[in-house]
Amino acid sequence: MGLLIRNIKGLVQTEDNPKIRVCGKEMAVLNAISDAYLFLENGLISDFGYMRDLKKAAIKQLRIKDDIDASGKFIFPSFCDSHTHLVYAGSRETEFKDKVKGLSYKEIAKRGGGILNSAKKLHETSEDELFEQSMVRIDEIISLGTGAVEIKSGYGLNLNDELKMLRVIKRIKESAPLEVKATFLGAHAVPEEFRNKRGKYVDLVINEMIPAVAAEQLADFIDVFCDRGFFTPEDTERILMAGLKYDLIPKIHANELDFSGGVQAGVKYNALSVDHLEMTGDSEIKTLKETGTMPTLLPGSAFFLGLPDPPARKMIDAGLPVALASDYNPGSSPSGNMKLVMSLACIKLKMLPEEAINAVTINSAYAMGLSDTHGSIAMGKVANIFITKEIPSYEFMPYAFGSDLIDTVILKGKVI
Ligand code: NIG
Ligand code: FE
Repeated sequence: MGLLIRNIKGLVQTEDNPKIRVCGKEMAVLNAISDAYLFLENGLISDFGYMRDLKKAAIKQLRIKDDIDASGKFIFPSFCDSHTHLVYAGSRETEFKDKVKGLSYKEIAKRGGGILNSAKKLHETSEDELFEQSMVRIDEIISLGTGAVEIKSGYGLNLNDELKMLRVIKRIKESAPLEVKATFLGAHAVPEEFRNKRGKYVDLVINEMIPAVAAEQLADFIDVFCDRGFFTPEDTERILMAGLKYDLIPKIHANELDFSGGVQAGVKYNALSVDHLEMTGDSEIKTLKETGTMPTLLPGSAFFLGLPDPPARKMIDAGLPVALASDYNPGSSPSGNMKLVMSLACIKLKMLPEEAINAVTINSAYAMGLSDTHGSIAMGKVANIFITKEIPSYEFMPYAFGSDLIDTVILKGKVI
């Protein structure tokens, strides 16, 4: 028995022959069916098409339990947010104030703010409390249209606290209705005890943390903050090699603050994605061409930190795919609003609405290893979708950047 949604003004991002990602010029192509129906059964998309093809006879064949009239409304596949740090303790609005006064991300970090500040708060917070705080954000992003999310550790920075974070992510995976992927980011910052002994901290990540994380099967991916003042490409390569022994697939924080070599290190180890990329030149674009690594842009953090915008146009025009994610975290992007991310991509990065929609659905699904099952409206894919309020066009979504336009969220075929 399933759910039939009829009279849909526009069913967006439909695929007859599903692709795992879209690159270059293809990014400006977005399939949409106007005056459509969609049938969801057993948590999956089981049929869709034009209303005119939904004949009375066919309706009888569909085992309909519930029926929704979506007149005037659009349906999108749920957003896939392939880069977040949404498991964290407390918040950091005092640093926000310092930032407003003109202090840089680096200066704030030097004053004991930044990632180390979140690590301290996380250390003082119990696993249960951390889970409760994180679930508030999970419920929030679900209501904002996200149906699959990647969540990183990296505010632990010691074995026990990293495991605490990853166990919380596992609990979210088991209890929340959206799809969750976990990333181990032990190399997010060098903790205080290892100041001037970065190599020793990398040893700890490799020799103690990675084996423990793998033993409990707590992570799908492994990440390193490969940037100026954090970890070098050499550290990154050592960590990725150690992770690969346990089948941890790389996803890298690269080139946010400098031409760090992170893109090259990521591609060398077949990273699923390299993320941030504010500092991307011809050499990085060339390195990414013809690879399976998804360049992932995080316009929320570039906006919040006042960083230069990543050259999205140049990347797409060079034939690369681009994914977009929120980077939801307390320091550089305290928002998991993927609709706003789309708006920023259009307004600041000059991506077309079609490109932005592809980047928050199929390409971000790819960036978390989910494009076979998520990221588009295709037969047999997971029934994660949202129905908008009445809007004139799909372009209206990134255009009306401050409006809440999501009416109904459906995950695994169930109205949330
Ligand atoms: O992706 N760049 C590194 N890490 C986060 C920031 C985390 C923080 O400031 O707490 C990011 O922007
Ligand atoms: Fe990040």
